[in-house]
Amino acid sequence: MEITPLTPHLGAEIRGVDLSAPLDNETFSGIHQAFLDWSVLVFRDQDLSRDQHKDFGRKFGKLHTHPMNHQGDGDDEILLVKTTKDSAYTAGNGWHTDVTCDEYPPMGSMLYIKEVPGSGGGDTLYANMYLAYEMLSETMKDMLDGLVAVHDGAIPYVGAYMSTPPEGGYPRHEHPVVATHPETGRKLLYVNSGFTSHIKDLTPQESKALLTFLLHHIATTPRLTCRVAWEPNTLTFWDNRCTQHHAIWDYYPNSRYGERVSIVAAERPAA
Ligand code: SIN
Repeated sequence: MEITPLTPHLGAEIRGVDLSAPLDNETFSGIHQAFLDWSVLVFRDQDLSRDQHKDFGRKFGKLHTHPMNHQGDGDDEILLVKTTKDSAYTAGNGWHTDVTCDEYPPMGSMLYIKEVPGSGGGDTLYANMYLAYEMLSETMKDMLDGLVAVHDGAIPYVGAYMSTPPEGGYPRHEHPVVATHPETGRKLLYVNSGFTSHIKDLTPQESKALLTFLLHHIATTPRLTCRVAWEPNTLTFWDNRCTQHHAIWDYYPNSRYGERVSIVAAERPAA
C-alpha cells in the first residue's frame, strides 16, 4: 500500500489497494492507521458494486441511514449524490460536517464518484478541524471549553433543500463546541455552518458573534484545507469526526453522480 499525502496535514492518496476484494487484517490496519493520520483517504480506479461499497463501510461500523432517506423508496444505506442541469441545489455545497444533527453523527463517509462533469470541476474541499482548533489563541480555547452547541437538521434539509420532514421532524441534538477525537485523543473544533444553530447559555447576540467568528475562521483559512479532484471510480473516505467538507458546484449545466455510504459512530461526540 502506497500513501501519498495531499498536503502536509490533511488528505492522502492510497494506491495498491483493491477495495472490491476482501481486505486482510494487515491491509485493514494500514487503511485504519492512514485514516487516523490523514483524515481524508482517496482511492483511485476502484471498481465497486453497491454491496462491495457497503461491505467496505461495514468494516468500520454500522451503516448509517441519512435522515433525508426516510421515504423508503430506495436503498436506505446508500445516499445518492447527484447533480444535473435540472437540480435546484447540489448537496453539500457549503462547509459542513455530515449529519451533526444526529445524536450519533457518522464517524466517516465514503463517497464513490462514478460520473464527473465533462466540463471539469466538481472538486471537493476538506478542512482539518484539529488545526482549526490549534490555531486559536489559548484565551479563545479556554473560553470555548465546556460550551455546548445545538445542531438542527431542519436548517439544511428544510431551509436549504426544502424537503418534507419525517413525522416528528428532523433530528436536533447538542454537542460540545470543542470535541476530543475518540481514537486519536486530539481536540478539535466541532461547529459547522450546515447544522449549528446556536451555542447554549449565551445571549443570542453572543452566540451569533462567536459562531460567526468560528465559522468565518473555518471558511477563510486555506491552510486548513485539501482539495480532492475526482476522476470516475474514485472513492474518498473522510473522518467526519475531525473534518468538514464543501462540494463545489462550478460545473452547471454539466452533471456529476456518486453514491455515499456513511458509518454511524460508536460514541457521541464528547469533550
Ligand atoms: C457531501 O457528502 O456532502 C457531498 C460531497 C460531494 O459531493 O463532494
